[in-house]
Amino acid sequence: MPPIKGMQASAAAILEGSPVDFGPASDGGGGGDSSGMIYLHRMEARFVNSESLREQAPNAFASSTVFLFRSGKKQYRLAVISIEVRIGQHSYRVLIGPGLLETVGNAIKEKLSPSRCAIISDTNVAPLFAEPVKKSLTSAGFDSVLIIVPAGEQSKTLEQTSTACEQMLLEGLDRQSFVVGLGGGVIGDLSGFVAAIFQRGIPHVQIPTTLLAMVDSSIGGKTGVNARAGKNLIGAIHQPVLVIDDVDILKTLPSRELRQGFAEIIKHAIIADAEMFAHLTQFAGSKLDCFKQSSFCEEFVSLIRRNIEIKANIVAKDERDRTGERAVLNFGHTIGHAIERAGDYKTFLHGEAVSLGMVATASISVKKAGLPEDERNAIVDLLRKFGLPTKLPTNVPRQKMFDALKFDKKFEHGRIRFLVTPKIGSASLSGDVTMEDIRAAVEKL
Ligand SMILES: NC(=O)c1ccc[n+]([C@@H]2O[C@H](COP(=O)([O-])OP(=O)(O)OC[C@H]3O[C@@H](n4cnc5c(N)ncnc54)[C@H](O)[C@@H]3O)[C@@H](O)[C@H]2O)c1
Ligand SMILES: [Zn+2]
Repeated sequence: MPPIKGMQASAAAILEGSPVDFGPASDGGGGGDSSGMIYLHRMEARFVNSESLREQAPNAFASSTVFLFRSGKKQYRLAVISIEVRIGQHSYRVLIGPGLLETVGNAIKEKLSPSRCAIISDTNVAPLFAEPVKKSLTSAGFDSVLIIVPAGEQSKTLEQTSTACEQMLLEGLDRQSFVVGLGGGVIGDLSGFVAAIFQRGIPHVQIPTTLLAMVDSSIGGKTGVNARAGKNLIGAIHQPVLVIDDVDILKTLPSRELRQGFAEIIKHAIIADAEMFAHLTQFAGSKLDCFKQSSFCEEFVSLIRRNIEIKANIVAKDERDRTGERAVLNFGHTIGHAIERAGDYKTFLHGEAVSLGMVATASISVKKAGLPEDERNAIVDLLRKFGLPTKLPTNVPRQKMFDALKFDKKFEHGRIRFLVTPKIGSASLSGDVTMEDIRAAVEKL
């Protein structure tokens, strides 16, 4: 892992795996701290408080706390990272680490008083993880109702929203209740929307279970469902009160789903962090599976943290997607969405389509923004290393794609405002990209 900028040296040493002595052992009951951290039921949990993120992410983070636990005489290992996300008027904590499902109830108790809640999950995730979540909530004094929807995008509908709300009312949930979303981005969006409108808005706790949801959809407060006319057209901005990223959960995630999460991570690197881009070139391959082998992988936790930081910092500048600053998160997405649509949302997963979109966008960036050719090649190589597609199969109807592009975007005088990268680690809007440029880049795919 590259040195973590601005972090206390001791914490950075831990992340690099060096032994550090923090003095006498703690009381052994887990780590509370003066800033009101949650109690983690880990032996000898300790923490290092860091001012780190203020300089990198002035809008999004006040501090980051790294929990450590003793795993040898003087050895401490990273257990859980807690980061504070500050977006607009809202401030909430994201916990990242292994074994967090068992501490969900206590973590929520730090934020909310004992009440009833709905756990919304899907048919794949609920059988795997609903039980420990429910148990943890019960032992922390919360009474929960489990609502399970069919897995997949087809559950992101107003009908499903309405069914969930009706069920919650039947179960006696009220304005004091809250919603826990346990699942990938589909469940995050749906449960967040339910929380946004139930009794005019109740708290939302996110427990993302896909990599994409951890690094992308659970951060930023966009919630909603699909309409017949298109995806994500009905919704609300509703920031969660707490996000819990248990990295152990990713062990059951199919590898295709894991890889598509890396598409968004690589996007974050291209638009905002050249150092992370360089690090990812080392991370691909053998390390990709590291979190499956050990009980947790510090590097992986750290990578998730950095991505949350990038996304939150961008969102903090433009919470409601009004000023255009949030638009940089759409890098590769204009073409990616057209590819998804051309494949009728069946051929490619979102991250796969975005991977192809980023390849085409990199070519456009060479032509229109001065991106060096070797940086374009590095982007393509990195996507390939993570098992993401970089070539558009010949059977994907090109014309359907171009039609989708025209449908999606307004061209003014034959030009479109298009996100490009002049240099890895940065992104800007160009007013100089034509349909012909896009067509040429897609034809090269
Ligand atoms: N709100 C936002 O800002 C935002 C950003 C990006 C994407 N999204 C939305 O996110 C959705 C895509 O999210 P996704 O890719 O997480 O899809 P998803 O929620 O459909 O999850 C993918 C699949 O993996 C299964 N799954 C989830 N976690 C698992 C686990 N730990 N083990 C085994 N199986 C598991 C799910 O049941 C599903 O079949 C889209 O609807 C998209 O619009 C929202
Ligand atoms: Zn995306």
